[in-house]
This record gives sequence, structure tokens and C-alpha cells, in this order.
Amino acid sequence: MRILITGASGVIGRILIPVLVAKGYEVGGMTKSQEKASLLQQLGAIPFVANIFEKEQVQKVFQQFQPDAIIHQVTALSNLSVEENAMARTIGTRHVAEAAKEVNVRRFIAQSIAWAYEPGTTIATEKDSLDVQAIGKRKMTIDGIVALENAVQEMSNAIILRYGVLYGPGTWYAPDGMMAQQFISGKAIVNDGVTSFIHIEDAVHATVQALDWKEGIYNIVDDTPATGRDWGTKYAHHLQAPIPIYQSGKAGWERGASNRKAKLEGGWTLVYPSWQEGFLSE
Ligand SMILES: NC(=O)c1ccc[n+]([C@@H]2O[C@H](COP(=O)([O-])OP(=O)(O)OC[C@H]3O[C@@H](n4cnc5c(N)ncnc54)[C@H](OP(=O)(O)O)[C@@H]3O)[C@@H](O)[C@H]2O)c1
Repeated sequence: MRILITGASGVIGRILIPVLVAKGYEVGGMTKSQEKASLLQQLGAIPFVANIFEKEQVQKVFQQFQPDAIIHQVTALSNLSVEENAMARTIGTRHVAEAAKEVNVRRFIAQSIAWAYEPGTTIATEKDSLDVQAIGKRKMTIDGIVALENAVQEMSNAIILRYGVLYGPGTWYAPDGMMAQQFISGKAIVNDGVTSFIHIEDAVHATVQALDWKEGIYNIVDDTPATGRDWGTKYAHHLQAPIPIYQSGKAGWERGASNRKAKLEGGWTLVYPSWQEGFLSE
């Protein structure tokens, strides 16, 4: 079985490639940069260079590799641009979905997020609506997520994985990552909003297992949604950083998410059921 990973050099893709190769899959990896093509090759993937905004480049990759399945992991977060990331989700995913249809891809798995739900007083399940009433920069993110998920759901056998906030090696929460640096500099601000985290290793396991799951949407989060004040204080302690600045209050959408469906229907189990142990594993 041939699996194409878009965003293969990203934080998930880099760990996912060797896991899939070890399971005997033939893996293709897409990057937009020639330099990262050799990294993909070292990890065991056949590299393809294409910019997701260029429809013909994307089509060419699918025509050459003829994948049976696609794991769509493109984000554009390196420049911290909400706009670019939303465009990659909107325009890029449309290009990937159209190219996948042309070669009759049988399974389409895509990365989404678990904090796009509308405001509510309980932790969110997949049955809750996305926050289409959002305003400002959040609206741009939600519009990107809605466009991505709509494009993916036009495919047969589509799976949407709504990952929680990723932490672990290579992420913003790793000791050399952006969030850790904010905490260490004493500039981090936390509130009463609830976040669901997911360790990168658990996110990768879920992604591999999802190749065999029933089509649909799954939250990929840990068992322990936590307030900013709670996780922020413990994370700071772990980093030996100053206690973060606390501002009371929360937005209605900061509610965390439930992983019940992935566990019950997908049989997914977690190595790190709580960020509390996960943070310590760094
Ligand atoms: N759920 C979450 O919390 C979540 C999810 C994702 C990321 N993040 C955070 O964001 C940080 C950065 O993520 P990242 O390392 O995965 O990097 P990224 O800059 O978001 O890139 C991810 C992947 O998308 C590809 N890509 C981006 N723009 C593209 C385009 N125009 N055409 C084709 N491919 C394109 C990149 O390819 P290139 O090889 O060309 O760069 C890379 O393989 C991580 O450290 C993580 O903490 C969080």
C-alpha cells in the first residue's frame, strides 16, 4: 500500500514516516523545499517537492506516486502567520483533495484542531458545531478549518483528526520551543480557559491506527483537559521558569475536548493519558 504524506517534514510527518515504513508501507513525502527532500529520504520516504498553492505541482506528485492513501499534514506555522496557515488549509487542501480524486485515493486522513468548537460549558465532542460565529483572527482560523474539513469530507473514506495542542519533541512546548522560551522569559500569561493537549507520540499512533478506522471525525486529545492556570503552573515548575502571569477569565470556546470516540470506536490507547506525565517525559 502506498501512502503519501503532505507536510511530511513537519512536526508529525517526521515521526510518522519511519513508523509507517517499519510497518511495511511504501511512503511518499511531500515538501515545498528541495533541502528537506533529503531529510525525507533519510527517514525512509520517497521525496516529492511541490508547493501546495500550485495546483499543477500537487497534481504531478499524485500522478507520479499513485497513492492508495493520503495523510494530509500541511500547516504553515513556521512564520507564525495565521493568514498563511488559513490559506494553506483552504486553497492547499482543495488542491490536494482534487488531485487525490483524480487518482482514486481510497483513504484520506487530514489534520485538524480540537479547539475550533463553538463556545460551551462542557468539554466538546465531535457532535458539537465548529465556532463559525468567531470574530477577528480566530475567525480566520475557523474559516480555514471549515474549508479544510469540507474539502476532505467530499472524499469517500475520509477521516478528520482534530488534534489537541501538540507537545513533546520538536513542538513549541519542547524545552527549546517557542512556548518554553516564553515561560522561561517570564512573559507567559495564563487564564482559566481549558486546553486539551496531546503528546506528539500519541498523535502519531492515532494517525497510523486511523488508517483502519471508520470514516468520520475524531478528537485526538489526552484524558485530562486542564485550565491554563493549572497546566501553566506545572509546566513552569517543570521548566524551572517563573510562575506565569495569571489573568482570570476565559473565552467560551476554551473548553477542551473529549477523546471518547477515538477510544471507543477506534480502540485507541494513549502512552501519555495526561500532560502531567507527558511534560515530565521531555
Ligand atoms: N495541533 C497543534 O497544536 C499543532 C499542529 C501543527 C503544528 N503545531 C506547532 O507548530 C510548530 C510548527 O509546525 P511544523 O514544524 O509542522 O511546521 P510548519 O511550518 O507548520 O510545516 C508543516 C509542514 O507543512 C509543509 N508546508 C508548509 N507550507 C507548504 C506549502 N506551501 N506547500 C507544501 N508544503 C508546505 C512544510 O513543508 P516544508 O518542508 O516545505 O517546510 C512542513 O512539512 C510545531 O513545532 C508545533 O508545535 C501545533
